[in-house]
Amino acid sequence: MALLFFSKSDRDGAFENKFRQALSELAPELEVRTWPDVGDAKDIQYAALWLPPPGLFDALPNLTHIFALSAGVDRLLRAPDLPQHVPIYRLEEGGMGTPMSEYVLFGVLQAQRQMHVLADAQQAKQWTRDAIEPAAANWHVGILGAGVLASAVATRLVNNGYPVSTWSRSRKQLNGVTSYAGPNEQIEFCSNLNTLVCLLPLTAETEGLLDASFFNQLPRGTALINVARGEHCVDEDLINALDSGQISSALLDVFHEEPLPQDHPFWQHPRVQITPHIAAPTAGDVAAKQVAQGVADAVAGREPKGFVDRGMGY
Ligand code: NAP
Ligand code: GLV
Repeated sequence: MALLFFSKSDRDGAFENKFRQALSELAPELEVRTWPDVGDAKDIQYAALWLPPPGLFDALPNLTHIFALSAGVDRLLRAPDLPQHVPIYRLEEGGMGTPMSEYVLFGVLQAQRQMHVLADAQQAKQWTRDAIEPAAANWHVGILGAGVLASAVATRLVNNGYPVSTWSRSRKQLNGVTSYAGPNEQIEFCSNLNTLVCLLPLTAETEGLLDASFFNQLPRGTALINVARGEHCVDEDLINALDSGQISSALLDVFHEEPLPQDHPFWQHPRVQITPHIAAPTAGDVAAKQVAQGVADAVAGREPKGFVDRGMGY
């Protein structure tokens, strides 16, 4: 019984070391190999992957379960040789709930405290004391998505005194959070926000959702935080919305192309803050725990957690 590991962003091997170490303690009977050192490919039933290279799946004739080392599976689902009959399981939480909550809380706090206005004043050497911020209790945060990470973020924001609403496909019940569901409730969800957070999966339905018409549904001056995927956002429309003041500032962790190309206008835009897809890195030991449990479930004939519905795209 063998598992193939691959993680594209793991340049220094730290994630792999942590993942392997934890997996060897949790599932000592499982042999772990790292792509491209497949050995006898017929032994490999399981794969744990982030951004697998082309050809990896074609090399694995006996694969029975694919474990994504990520919450989002949009890129995995686009792998040209992805076998259609092998089920995929994604990380649910995966150690990402706390860092994601901290990142979003930071973004909400700096928008609420009008830090971009104060930064402009500093640049102009102006002692400006009229950026009177509304209190957290009057700073309404809307989260697109109400899944595992959005729930963690919403709880953190509620605990910090912010009114929070979420928007998802199905209605939710989360303490202190107002839930909006489906396209019919989108306008109402948008109507009184101060900060909008995107935590949707990237699917055919959500791609390009953050466009000019969406921005125009928001109150003038809403701050945007995108921690989901770059493709949710129409970049040109965001730049126009920032230039017109419809969107006051954007904190962006994800982009159409990563790394963000050197000539992209986001690098220089005075109202854009970028971070290099680090809002919530997968924790190697937590991922190993979920994968070990998934393999144990598979061996016992149970369905592992985190099943991805390919039709829905998440
Ligand atoms: P999740 O648990 O699957 O939650 C997805 C949420 O989106 C669900 O509430 C779902 O609604 C909602 N949704 C999906 N399609 C929708 C649609 N068409 N209209 C309205 N709502 C829709 O996902 P998660 O684990 O929270 O992760 C969310 C995303 O975060 C990932 O897909 C990934 O792209 C991103 N991410 C980014 C980082 C980073 O470091 N920047 C790290 C981890 C994850 P239902 O509940 O009704 O199904
Ligand atoms: C990271 O972006 C993830 O989807 O886990």
